[in-house]
Amino acid sequence: MEALKIALLGGGTVGSAFYRLVLEREEELAAFGVIPRFMGVLVRDPKKPRAIPEELLRAEPFDLLEADLVVEAMGGVEAPLRLVLPALEAGIPLLTANKALLAEAWDRLRPFAEEGLIYHEASVMAGTPALSFLETLRGSEPLELHGILNGTTLYILQEMEKGKAYLEALSEAQRLGYAEADPSLDVEGIDAAHKLTLLARLLVDPGFPFPAVEVRGITRLTLEALREAEARGERVRLVASLYGQGGRWRARVAPVRLPQDHPLARARGNALYVRARPLGEAFVAGPGAGGEATASGLFADLLRLLSGAPGHLPAPRARPPLAEGSPWPGVE
Ligand SMILES: NC(=O)c1ccc[n+]([C@@H]2O[C@H](COP(=O)([O-])OP(=O)(O)OC[C@H]3O[C@@H](n4cnc5c(N)ncnc54)[C@H](OP(=O)(O)O)[C@@H]3O)[C@@H](O)[C@H]2O)c1
Repeated sequence: MEALKIALLGGGTVGSAFYRLVLEREEELAAFGVIPRFMGVLVRDPKKPRAIPEELLRAEPFDLLEADLVVEAMGGVEAPLRLVLPALEAGIPLLTANKALLAEAWDRLRPFAEEGLIYHEASVMAGTPALSFLETLRGSEPLELHGILNGTTLYILQEMEKGKAYLEALSEAQRLGYAEADPSLDVEGIDAAHKLTLLARLLVDPGFPFPAVEVRGITRLTLEALREAEARGERVRLVASLYGQGGRWRARVAPVRLPQDHPLARARGNALYVRARPLGEAFVAGPGAGGEATASGLFADLLRLLSGAPGHLPAPRARPPLAEGSPWPGVE
């Protein structure tokens, strides 16, 4: 039995849940001939109470080149990038839940993703299969993709449907820990745009640029707009869409009016809908946030790595859309 040396960057909601899950599932890892050993857990403040033994906590970056794999659950772009690049250059695989890092630092990370060194199922829809779902859909030609990829805005819209005003629903989401103290990445649609970028790179164009996503969030939505939609038999959701328009792929995040019987409108959690040829329609839904749900996605990637499979490879080439897509009407 060999030690599997894990460097964990971040010991917050996701990092702590991943640490616990690895200890809980040690026996399964033993089937691969390894015993997990955490080399250290990078945090900002080692004095904060958390479910990780104090002797593992590090306030200063430690030597990642000694690790067998790096698990990044810090968040942000520049700080994690500085840490993970030397490890990737040394051929050490990276498991990450950080969609902002991948979406915004792609020019630096793409060569390593193409080498199969980057595993990131948890970066989109947490432990609900989104990337592996799309990998299987590569057997068909994609026509259009639509997803509800952000749990905070979904919660706010569901509360608004019960009659709460936007600001009231937002502060409820913050009180329950669904929304950050600074919720702008969620409510302005940027988090969903990060995730849509990763999906587009996997499915249609390995170089899909993050700034190409048109983004409108939910900050200006009124109760009246939701009521009007309801009266027409529709439901307002923040939908991330990828569809053909004028022979090019167009990516858009916006609040739209969905027919109430569409699977995306009925979903209680995050959801992803794809229409492809010859497959037809495919749909997956499930939790898209939370420490345990996200740790589940990271653990799936750990099993994938131990089984010898490469990380999530971007689409092998850019392919033009076969058809014009049909996005739903936006809500002003
Ligand atoms: N939470 C979710 O539901 C969820 C779902 C999917 C993906 N993700 C992604 O997972 C990542 C982590 O999210 P989270 O919710 O776990 O965040 P979090 O609770 O804020 O945890 C972040 C951790 O990283 C540490 N950290 C952050 N910046 C650091 C720095 N510059 N130097 C050293 N340590 C630093 C923090 O240290 P301290 O603890 O000392 O502050 C904390 O332990 C993010 O990329 C997020 O987008 C989260």
